[in-house]
Amino acid sequence: MFKPKHLAWAGLVPGLVLAVFVQAGEVGLSPQQSMVETLSASTSAYKDYMLNCGGCHRFSGEGVARNAVPDFRNSIGMFTHLPEGREYMIRVPGAAQSLLGNAELAEVLNWIVATYSPAQLAADFKPFTAGEVGAVRPYRFDNVVVERRKLTERLNEQGLTPSAYLYGAN
Ligand code: HEC
Repeated sequence: MFKPKHLAWAGLVPGLVLAVFVQAGEVGLSPQQSMVETLSASTSAYKDYMLNCGGCHRFSGEGVARNAVPDFRNSIGMFTHLPEGREYMIRVPGAAQSLLGNAELAEVLNWIVATYSPAQLAADFKPFTAGEVGAVRPYRFDNVVVERRKLTERLNEQGLTPSAYLYGAN
């Protein structure tokens, strides 16, 4: 005879099977994917970006082409392939001269690459740290346009094409 307790089991078993699958899905993330998700989930970095960077770089990260603000999407992560590229990201005026402390700026840079360009990150990407930011931040570029052009050429040699850079073009 079919009793209510059988009904309970009937619901529980598929539930357990589903739970095991969901677990397995999470375990299936690579260490880098989990790191990227964690970096992009930072609400403090999100707020800092919106208040300090988003005015020019936009909430979508697409920048403003007519004002020569480059598009971060599917591009900015490429700079993590070169030590000089990481340094560039810290030393560009909008980042270096922001009001953010070194730890906050590191978090925002991590948030930017993880949110707008995770697929382009270096395979051995390590998050920016306050120490790394503080070490190079004080050194202003004489000419940011020349630095960006040199980096673009080096990335091109690796088969990477960062977004168009129109700053200083006219
Ligand atoms: C007043 C507008 C403005 C603000 C605010 C601003 N930026 Fe920018 N950003 C620019 C412009 C213009 C460029 C291109 C010129 C350059 O490289 O500095 C740029 C370039 C960059 C680049 C290099 C992108 C590339 O593809 O070469 C990074 C990284 C960056 N900004 C980070 C930040 C961060 C982080 C913040 C906030 C803490 C910020 N910016 C705030 C205008 C701004």
